[in-house]
Amino acid sequence: MAERVKYAAVGCGGMGRRHLRGMAKLYGSSRCNLELAAVCDLNQDNANYLADEAEQLLGTRPRVFADIEKMVREISDLQAADVTTDTGSHHVVTIACLENGLNVMCEKPFAVTVRGCTKVIETARRQGRIVSVAENFRRDPINRLIRALLDDGAIGTPRLMIETSIGGGDRIIITPWRHMKKTGAITLDEGVHHADILRYYLGEFRSVFGETRLHEKVRYNTRSAGPGGFYARWSSDFPETIEPDGEDALYAQISFASGAIGHWINDHAGHGKATHGRTVYGSKGSIESPGDRNGRPAKLYLDDGSVIDDGRILEFAPSYHLSPLAAELFGGERIWTYQFEFNDTDSRILALEYYELGECIKNGTQPEMTGEQGRADVALNYAPFESGRLGRPVTLEELVTSQADAYQREIDEQLGLL
Ligand SMILES: NC(=O)c1ccc[n+]([C@@H]2O[C@H](COP(=O)([O-])OP(=O)(O)OC[C@H]3O[C@@H](n4cnc5c(N)ncnc54)[C@H](O)[C@@H]3O)[C@@H](O)[C@H]2O)c1
Repeated sequence: MAERVKYAAVGCGGMGRRHLRGMAKLYGSSRCNLELAAVCDLNQDNANYLADEAEQLLGTRPRVFADIEKMVREISDLQAADVTTDTGSHHVVTIACLENGLNVMCEKPFAVTVRGCTKVIETARRQGRIVSVAENFRRDPINRLIRALLDDGAIGTPRLMIETSIGGGDRIIITPWRHMKKTGAITLDEGVHHADILRYYLGEFRSVFGETRLHEKVRYNTRSAGPGGFYARWSSDFPETIEPDGEDALYAQISFASGAIGHWINDHAGHGKATHGRTVYGSKGSIESPGDRNGRPAKLYLDDGSVIDDGRILEFAPSYHLSPLAAELFGGERIWTYQFEFNDTDSRILALEYYELGECIKNGTQPEMTGEQGRADVALNYAPFESGRLGRPVTLEELVTSQADAYQREIDEQLGLL
């Protein structure tokens, strides 16, 4: 058995549980390169629960910690941490891991503000350690296929992308902290996936004009088990109602460096019919995405009136090839559809993130989602917030250097990031 890189799971809530399933999938593959040595959480109930689940799923019980420094002291060959704590703590936890010599994969959003991202990037550089952002949507094979279709000119020159997500009403979405500005509003928590997909499809953005809203002043506990059902053990303990102070809707127009335009709605206060759509229009046709992690086929619409949503779509994407592990987990290197339950799909994609981290540590290479990539996603996500405050478009440069920070400054002040 090839040597495996020992890592710790830091953060044992809902996403920590989902990551564990990803690790189980990697353990079951032919390419496992990581080994779960420890779990760490301030909440020891959560840590012990995850350790028990790990014993069932992986065959051995990781050690349980509440303190990163102690964990690194006691497990001398620990090399990495997988950070799945809540968003407001990402920068603190990730920096603590890096300063203790660990390489880190951190869940999205990379940090709660752009300054938080920059601080982590600088720490990783100083410490000579890898930092990777666990952005999963782009790793969905269907998103890989769509990106190849765009690269290979299937629709000519991309001109316009419309990314729409409307729904949510006045429910507490997954957890209460997702509705508070300081811990990352839902428009950041969920929105950042879409920011990443916009950049993944169309390349870097140049400027953004937009606005945000806080529509729902009160949200209600529906005791939802959350995505994949992993939150049922916590949701009945949430308050009946909360009063959010984090914006629940953003509306933006994006100018990409290529000249293409993006129209982006991320509205988690939508009542009535929920709407999710993603279409790219080019000079010769359009591509309709089926969304993420559902395995449904993408649809290619061409000027001659043809609509291609079966295996023939591969003819338009000669450069499309999944990595060997993705091909093993999803059943082929040029798949155009797949059929797994949500949790089964989720764990396959998370296994890919883990594997990449292990390879980067072993080979000294950089991950696809570097800290800089994660920061650019957070910058795009905050663009409509900052643009709304300034009443004018904001540029990538202003956002990444935190010159456009009127909205984020209050969070940075509270978190000691200024
Ligand atoms: N990529 C995805 O599809 C996806 C889906 C869900 C969540 N997430 C991300 O995962 C992260 C976690 O979300 P969640 O829903 O699991 O949150 P959660 O509230 O369920 O769990 C967070 C856990 O972190 C622990 N924690 C908080 N601060 C800590 C610290 N300083 N040290 C150690 N442990 C600490 C908490 O005690 C809790 O157990 C968030 O950043 C979220 O955006 C990503």
